[in-house]
Amino acid sequence: MDELPIRSGDDVVRVRQHVRTTAAANGLSLVDQTKLVTAASELARNTLVHGGGGVARVEVIKSPNGRTGVRLHFTDEGPGIADTDLALRDGWTSGTGLGLGLSGSRRLVDEFELSSKPGAGTSVVVVKWSR
Ligand SMILES: Nc1ncnc2c1ncn2[C@@H]1O[C@H](COP(=O)(O)OP(=O)(O)OP(=O)(O)O)[C@@H](O)[C@H]1O
Ligand SMILES: [Mg+2]
Repeated sequence: MDELPIRSGDDVVRVRQHVRTTAAANGLSLVDQTKLVTAASELARNTLVHGGGGVARVEVIKSPNGRTGVRLHFTDEGPGIADTDLALRDGWTSGTGLGLGLSGSRRLVDEFELSSKPGAGTSVVVVKWSR
């Protein structure tokens, strides 16, 4: 498992690159690599912009039936999200964004888990499986 800090825009670029390399090395198709990198980019940017910075963890996993997957875990200790259902809605933003980062990311991956509480930070785990 690799751990990367998210404290700047440069860190977000490094996370993207690391996810791309890991996905390519573990048999994800070019299209799936791009989907996962796009999701990683949105989630890392949320960690930076809304969460005040945090950490990305990148892990290669195996399913019981032998498939390989790449799991990404974004965590921060920022303000958290009061209403996660609302935050996941297309077009909902608390700021001036498009409000498509979370909802778009969810559609690009195979597994998506958002947990957050006001004052307790935010955690997002996503998985993309090779097919
Ligand atoms: N890590 C986080 N910490 C706190 N709030 C978050 C976090 N991630 C998302 N949010 C909240 O969820 C909302 C929706 O996130 P989403 O990424 O979909 O949209 P956005 O970041 O506002 O715009 P963009 O389309 O540019 O990503 C954000 O506006 C913010 O209020
Ligand atoms: Mg966003």
